[in-house]
Parts: sequence; C-alpha cells; structure tokens
Amino acid sequence: MDSFLIHGGTPLYGDVQIGGSKNAVLPIMAATLLTAETCVIRRVPDLSDVRFMVKILESLGAEVHFAGGTLTIRASAIQGFGDYELIRKMRGSICILGPLVARLQTATVSLPGGCIIGTRPIDLHLKGLAALGAKLTIDSGYIRAEAPRLKGAIIFLGGRAGPTVLGTANILMAATLADGVTLIESAACEPEVVDLANFLSSMGAKISGIGSPTLTVTGVEELHGTDHEVIGDRIEAGTFAAAAAATGGEVVLHGARPEHLTAVLDKLHEAGVRAERTQGALTIKAGSALRPVDVTTMPYPGFPTDMQAQLMTLMCLASGTSVITERIFESRFMHAAELMRLGADISIEGPSAIVKGGRPLSGAPVMASDLRASAALVIAGLAGRGDTRVNRVYHLDRGYEKMEEKLRRLGAKIERVDGE
Ligand code: EPZ
Repeated sequence: MDSFLIHGGTPLYGDVQIGGSKNAVLPIMAATLLTAETCVIRRVPDLSDVRFMVKILESLGAEVHFAGGTLTIRASAIQGFGDYELIRKMRGSICILGPLVARLQTATVSLPGGCIIGTRPIDLHLKGLAALGAKLTIDSGYIRAEAPRLKGAIIFLGGRAGPTVLGTANILMAATLADGVTLIESAACEPEVVDLANFLSSMGAKISGIGSPTLTVTGVEELHGTDHEVIGDRIEAGTFAAAAAATGGEVVLHGARPEHLTAVLDKLHEAGVRAERTQGALTIKAGSALRPVDVTTMPYPGFPTDMQAQLMTLMCLASGTSVITERIFESRFMHAAELMRLGADISIEGPSAIVKGGRPLSGAPVMASDLRASAALVIAGLAGRGDTRVNRVYHLDRGYEKMEEKLRRLGAKIERVDGE
C-alpha cells in the first residue's frame, strides 16, 4: 500500500486545475443504465471509485470505454444483479438500484453496509422505491426490488440528518421512467444532484424544481443517449484552498465554481483567508495569521461535511479555540487522533471537536482512514515542520486524481512511495 512522504513548511504557490466531480460522476454513471443508447460523459476524473463503478456497470452487462477523461457507456443488454463483492467495496454504488428496477422491472443489489464514518443506512432509498410501487425484499444481504411499472408518488425524503444525496439520486432516476408524476420533497440540493438532474434532462427526462428541495418528475416511456460534461469537484477545490491557507501561500483554482463553495469561502474569510474571483478562476490567498472559527456541517448550501476534516487541520494552526460540530455523520472525527500525533490539541465532546489551535504541527507517521481524513492529514503534513509519512493513501486515490503531482506543481515537497 502506497504512502506519501511529505517535507512540510513550504508555502504553496501557483495554479491548479480542478477535476470533474467524483460525487457527480458516480450517480451519472448509474443513470446510463436507464437507456439502451450510448452516453458520453466528459471531464471524468481518473479515480479508483470511478474505475470501480466501471467494473460494476460492466458486471451488469454495459459496454464501457474510459480514456482521456471521457467515458462512453452503452447499457443496451443488461441484467439486474449487483454482486456483493463489488457493491460492498463502494457504497456509492447503491445508486444502481433505482435505474435497474426502472429499466428492468427487477433488481437484486447487495446491501452496501457501513463504512468508517458511519452506519450509512439506506432506509430512505427503500422508502422512496416502495412509494413508487416497488416490492422490496431483503434476503441474505441483498435487496430485491420488483415492479412491473413504477408509479409516480409524493415522497418525503428527509431523514434524521436532513436530505439524502444518493437517496435523492436513486429516487430521481427511478421516477424518470415511472408512470405519472412524482414529487420528491426534502430532496437534496447539492450541486452534484443538480448535475445529475441536468444529465437526466439531457436524456429526455422531464424534471422541474432542479436545485430546489422539491423535485417534480413526469415519467416518460424511455430515455435516449446524451453527451454531458461533469461539473468541477467543489470538494477537491475546497481541499486545495485549505492547503493554500494552511501553508501560507497563494493558489489559483481553475475549473471550480465559486457559487458551489459559498459556505466554505465564508468560513475561510472568517478565518482570515482571502478569496478573489478572477475570470473563471478563484484565487486563494493566506492572510497574515489564521483566526479560529466555529462551524457546524449541514446539507447544501451549508458547510459541507466533506470539508470538515480539512477545516479541522486549518483550525489546528489558528491562534485560538475552534468548535467543529459534525451533524451529518455519526463518526467522522477519525482524523482527530492522527492530527494529535502531529501535535494538535483536540478534544471530542459528542458531535463536536474542540480544537485549541496555535501550536505548530510537527511531522510524524500517520494513518489515513477515510477519503477526506486522508486529505486533512496531507494538509497537516504540508503545513507542519519536518517530515510526515501518510500511510494507506489508497483512501486518497478514491477521490483525488494525482494529488501529489498537483501539489508538487505548487511547490510542495511530496512524493509517493511504496508503503508498508
Ligand atoms: C453522499 O453520500 C456523498 N457520497 C458523501 O461524500 C457525502 O459526505 C454525503 O453525500 C453527504 O453530503 C457520494 O455522493 C458518492 P447521504 P450519501 O445519504 O448520499 C443519513 C465523500 O467523501 N441517511 O446524503 O451516502 C446518513 O446516515 C463522501 O466524497 C439515512 O439516515 O450521504 C447521513 O447521516 C463521503 N438514511 C445523512 O443521511 C438513508 O437512507 C446524509 O447521508 C440515507 C442517508
């Protein structure tokens, strides 16, 4: 397993090209199951999660070609069985369930199971499919959904932590081929859901209210192929912004949409970090000193949970105490213990992390645990003194394409080595 070797203390300067959004492209790839025609998806990041979704689509019988950032997918002759060995390794693949039962009238998909940041239930996905008339049975770790024809319904998809991103994606995709009109209330408004809705519309789906908490879908008989470019990855952009701020540098982010980052830029501004919008780019400039901020993660447009770990690293460097409250997932503070190995002073009080910043971070070997926690550790290594070895960076490769190369081009002293 690979590791990153980082020699910290160098401010990051220069330009970075933000890639296509992982969390937009995964459900969009699932949406290609809704048509027998060819779909072309552009600006696709070369990530292990994307390559995994390719394997899953191929296991269902789709023809997939992936080269030069472009995916060509033709799901003309497919079957509806999602194998446990594949699904369990990437829980995002649960979003094949909706398209499969809509297209084939039957689907059997492995229950995804949890992951290190939480139990990751799918009760809302199942509530939505049942409301659309699917007969659901759970047997030996698989969910089986059957419906001669899904029927439009009014569905409230809000859960204990608010809307569900992939739950909204699953039900939205299923509803496009249902008979009649579906109203999805408390739908997720994340930019990635908007991108999926736009992709579906380009396939001939009839969707209104895109970007709002209420989506209205009028079912059609069939959908056709399309050609779509994926939006920029707002979390990759936020991660590089945090790295620029943490190292005291100045980085120009190309390919990110500032309007997708308002809550993150607002918190960075409060922490003393300047962000300037210039011709389609976003320049992040570290201030003279970092100020502590309090933040609570919320559904979009609130502060994203996928930026919580990266902000925690930044607050370790701020002169004062910050309170970071995680309201979306029940155990998303794995990075705190590793940051403490680098000298951070963090205490966990229920859903909140109390970060007493101001002490410099010093390099040490640390262990990546999940995608965004790994990013937080890389930022800590870049900002800290001395050498940091981040082990198990396969977690990073799930969601960041060539991260070490992009950082090296910004002046970082970082290299990928064969790990333990
Ligand atoms: C998506 O996960 C993202 N993944 C996550 O990004 C992101 O953190 C999350 O949305 C929240 O923004 C992809 O898009 C592939 P949810 P998802 O359903 O859809 C609860 C990353 O780092 N819930 O919006 O699985 C759930 O437990 C990853 O890129 C139910 O209770 O998340 C959580 O508390 C990590 N019942 C909350 O809702 C359900 O049926 C939000 O989860 C579904 C979810």
